[in-house]
Amino acid sequence: MNHAPIDQTGAWQRLMEHAEEMRTTHLRELFIDEARGGAFMRQAAGLTLDLSKQRWSDATLERLLDLARAVEVPQRIQALLNGEHVNVSEDRPALHTALRLPPEAELVVDGEDVVSGVHATLDRMASMVARLHARQWRGATGRPIYDVVNLGVGGSDLGPLMVTHALADYRPADAHHVEVHFASTMDGSQLADYLTRFNPETTLFVISSKSFTTIDTLSNARTARDWLMARLVEDGIQGVDEEMVMRQHFVGVSAKPDKMSEWGIAEANQLLFWEWVGGRYSLWGAIGLPIALVIGMANFRELLAGAHAMDEHFAQAPLGDNLPVLLALAGIWNVNFLDIRAHSILPYDGRLEHFAAYLEQLEMESNGKSATHDGRQVSYSTCPVLWGQLGPNAQHAFYQLLHQGTQPVVCDFIAPLKRYDDVEDAATRDHLKAQHRLTLANCFAQSRLLMLGDDAIDEPGERPGHKRYRGNQPSTTLLLDRLTPATLGALIALYEHKVFVQAAIWDINPFDQWGVELGKQIAGETERMLADHHGHEQMDASTRALLEAVWRAEGESDR
Ligand code: F6P
Repeated sequence: MNHAPIDQTGAWQRLMEHAEEMRTTHLRELFIDEARGGAFMRQAAGLTLDLSKQRWSDATLERLLDLARAVEVPQRIQALLNGEHVNVSEDRPALHTALRLPPEAELVVDGEDVVSGVHATLDRMASMVARLHARQWRGATGRPIYDVVNLGVGGSDLGPLMVTHALADYRPADAHHVEVHFASTMDGSQLADYLTRFNPETTLFVISSKSFTTIDTLSNARTARDWLMARLVEDGIQGVDEEMVMRQHFVGVSAKPDKMSEWGIAEANQLLFWEWVGGRYSLWGAIGLPIALVIGMANFRELLAGAHAMDEHFAQAPLGDNLPVLLALAGIWNVNFLDIRAHSILPYDGRLEHFAAYLEQLEMESNGKSATHDGRQVSYSTCPVLWGQLGPNAQHAFYQLLHQGTQPVVCDFIAPLKRYDDVEDAATRDHLKAQHRLTLANCFAQSRLLMLGDDAIDEPGERPGHKRYRGNQPSTTLLLDRLTPATLGALIALYEHKVFVQAAIWDINPFDQWGVELGKQIAGETERMLADHHGHEQMDASTRALLEAVWRAEGESDR
């Protein structure tokens, strides 16, 4: 699609003119209109999106919708869902939505029946999960598996980590317990801890890597393999050989079956996915194995169904009622017209502890770009700096900056409407429900204070500078009916599609990540220099000094 640069379109210019006026309008003035509360609220798939605390008006939204129409957002949504090659730099579709299509759906892409492949993989996952839950999957010495360690990083770690944590309450009652753990860091610190605590006879490793070349994951995997071989084979446990260890203690999840085989993963233990699934969009299929192990396959399918409900909404709802489109437009308005380039994600529910880290990759690896589809440098801002933390904890950490700092920030507040209904003991239930009410009260109080600043306080007289609250900081509130596999699926899909719509407007490709490649290459060269003590002469003075510090330290520890 060839368009004029977006900032040269009439739709953009009209927004620029309108922004002049809105920049000097305080949120408190917008709230003179009593109807505003409900007017910017929309619902879909068990989620309520409240955009009333954005610094915008009906007129702003109309202009933003014109901008979305100018870049043909509805057509682009169809192109995404139909499997067109929207990932232009890698010439392939981005079909994570196909991973959550129901079995009766039809989708043929590049001559391939996508839906049957997706469900065949889900069935293979189901059978692995069933064997592990029934204690039929045995280690090389015949003992059942109790601990499963996912070795992966980025999209092969963050999605499963976030969801298993969020939905830990959904463990199926009829399954034996398998503890799922995650090791991502290349320094080995997480893995080293597990290796001191776990029994090799009852531990299974899942090596999750789309490319099966990621050094972080493969270095952890090598350490794990050597640990198992040393404990189970070299220690001479009767009848155990290397082939049994590989077959009974390693599963591989990847888009590269050859590489898995080369590494020694038995064919029966290989779960495959496709090049058209981006790493950070991959939790919906084989990469979700740890999720299915924690919540069971039926709940995993609920997660998919929730995401699919959001996909359908995204495909069908008019732009002005379309949750992902509205969320995206609020972001565009803040970044490009109000110059707000910091975005904080603040869940008010401990189960969503890893949600911000997950979104950091989803948003910044997708849209942290400055080249347009045809390779031009953009002349406008793209993805803001996005970070977050559990809201209640962040209140005691960085809310100071939100309320009194100089940097404008937009916040997403996320909370479930209902919690703890199912706690059996009545007294505990009452306490916990009161804690939930307290949490919601804090969530709503913070967004109100960010909106109104000093005006939130009914206190006469002038306040000293250090007690002034700046206010006028916009926010979005996202309420889940409750946190279930289905609403979590919808929440994640909402953000995935938000990212897609923003990328369409910014004219960037959200599905590649070339910016991370060169660092990997240079790290490889640096590792060789560190080991060989050679080649560093050509390096810059800072890197040379750092290498020399390592060699000095090595010299001291050798002594
Ligand atoms: O280096 C970035 C990245 O490619 C991410 O996009 C990806 O999620 C992560 O590394 C892990 O990649 P893989 O699944 O291929 O090991």
